[in-house]
Amino acid sequence: MTLPDIKTTLPGPKARALIERDAAVVSPSYTRGYPLVIKRASGASVEDVDGNMFLDCAAGIAVNSTGHSHPDVVRAITEQAQRFIHMSGTDFYYDVQVRLAEEIASIVPIDGGARSFFSNSGTEAVEAAIKLARYATGRQNIIAFFGGFHGRTMGSLALTASKPVQRRGFAPFMPGVFHAPYPDCYRCPVGLKSEDCAAECLDFIEHQLFMHLMTPEEVAAIVIEPIQGEGGYVVAPTHFLERLRELTSAHGILLVIDEVQSGMGRTGKMLAIEYANVKPDIITIAKGIASGMPLGVTVARADLMTWPPGAHASTFGGNPVSCAAALATIKLLKDSLIANAAEVGAHMKAGLTALMDTHPLIGDVRGRGLMLGAELVRDRTTKERAVQERDAVVNAAFKRGLLVLGAGKNSIRFSPPLVLTREQADTAVRVFGEALTEVEGTRI
Ligand SMILES: Cc1ncc(COP(=O)(O)O)c(C=O)c1O
Repeated sequence: MTLPDIKTTLPGPKARALIERDAAVVSPSYTRGYPLVIKRASGASVEDVDGNMFLDCAAGIAVNSTGHSHPDVVRAITEQAQRFIHMSGTDFYYDVQVRLAEEIASIVPIDGGARSFFSNSGTEAVEAAIKLARYATGRQNIIAFFGGFHGRTMGSLALTASKPVQRRGFAPFMPGVFHAPYPDCYRCPVGLKSEDCAAECLDFIEHQLFMHLMTPEEVAAIVIEPIQGEGGYVVAPTHFLERLRELTSAHGILLVIDEVQSGMGRTGKMLAIEYANVKPDIITIAKGIASGMPLGVTVARADLMTWPPGAHASTFGGNPVSCAAALATIKLLKDSLIANAAEVGAHMKAGLTALMDTHPLIGDVRGRGLMLGAELVRDRTTKERAVQERDAVVNAAFKRGLLVLGAGKNSIRFSPPLVLTREQADTAVRVFGEALTEVEGTRI
């Protein structure tokens, strides 16, 4: 089957009918960038209700790590569902949750043993990290970064500083949260060039926050995405993360690495933090861990996670079907998909970078593995953000059968299933180029 294969105008008639029904009864807060109505999917291909076939470089926001409905994952889900679907790991024990916690303890770069708290989503994984950090340190303040996205429940929302629309109307936020500049090397917050960078933006924490607002002893944790996801696929340099580890260790501050989007093989390593020489205290995981089944995990140093029974729990968290899907997912990642993400990702990044020669809209191509971003600008010198053009390119790609998502104000993210082949990567780059040509021809 050749992908993509678009047979109707988009949205087709069946898609249009469903979207109308949705508009009447579903919350309008969802960010539907374009009108895709899915019927079924397999690997990196998606079919809509009108029979159009799409190449998926969105993967349900970086979730379908093993591809849509991987047979091994479907089998694990089915077998577990036939045994039992729910028993609440909060109150009872079951083998599949223990096996998953053992597996996670063996793959995270945390020294001295790790324990897992299971929930259902990324935001819950971050909530648990916030609560654990406060509980374990007896301190209150949390530092996060501008551009960061950590979820939308009231604790993690206080950390989220990606787009005003995500916060507007929801104040007051959880107190004790402060933000620092993220090391966005394309738009260096302290005006340096990447080659001269010694992570000077980190000085803001020491020379501003710790000088004027609080002492380091009041800070429970610093929470950071090693690659900002929703914020625009911005990669923190490894030396920044290593200095951050030194800073936090020096003051007894816990370092929380949010791997909800960057984790589970996507970057060509199991976790993106493995690119740096950093041992975190807490890691949050969700999205790709269970190939689409809801699961959030807060993994912490074993000696930190000592809160007593009742301190934190979740009825559904660590659902056995999700745990079984996660075990099957991790096996597939280890067997071949992490390596595939590294290899096909490097190939795709080279393809996207080559597009810069012919497409002035692309200001920057970045990322690791199959977590790739292209930032669109109106002018490469001024770096004026091409906001409407970005939306137009995402839509033009959709009309050609390529599913991508926006990230940040003016970037496009490529977060395909990790089963993507080199040929599919070439197709994605070609179609993306065509979408750019269309939009560049009709400069907004
Ligand atoms: C880094 C990061 N943390 C947390 C979240 C929140 O995850 P969820 O939408 O599952 O609550 C996201 C979601 O995009 C994320 O990218």
